[in-house]
Amino acid sequence: MGSSSIAEIDEIIEKYTEPGSLIRILQKVQDIYGYLSEDVQTYIAGRLHIPVSEINGVVTFYSLFSTKPKGKYRISVCMGTACYVKGANKILDRLKEELGADEGETSGDGLFTLLATRCVGACGLAPVITIGDNVHGRLSPDDIPLLIQKYRSKENTGSSRMKTGALQ
Ligand code: FES
Repeated sequence: MGSSSIAEIDEIIEKYTEPGSLIRILQKVQDIYGYLSEDVQTYIAGRLHIPVSEINGVVTFYSLFSTKPKGKYRISVCMGTACYVKGANKILDRLKEELGADEGETSGDGLFTLLATRCVGACGLAPVITIGDNVHGRLSPDDIPLLIQKYRSKENTGSSRMKTGALQ
């Protein structure tokens, strides 16, 4: 475990010392990593002198917590009727191929989590996907590689502060 990651977690733990702060602490740590790995849960348990099972109980109970890495961008493929009849399945398949990730999974570069969703209210643009807050419509499967590439290059040129989930 690298000292900078530990220092960040320690800082959070030292800031929230009142009883009942566990959820707050877990939220803050998840904000850094995007999810709460087993390593991270074990470390927090040790620092708080509580069993890791207690942390795990909270993490699995509340849906806001995740134990699996999530991408920086959430890609939601609309599977509503209008999009479905215009080939949403093919768009989803192409995204799986492009990202090397199945539905519910995150791409190896940690950037994208692929999801299917219900109608997003932009049926006139079917088939539609959303990437983060952006809506992309009237897509064909062949548009997917370029679209993903645009987001990837934005990350390479931007000042993104991505972290892997493992303590390092
Ligand atoms: S069905 Fe896809 S936006 Fe409505």
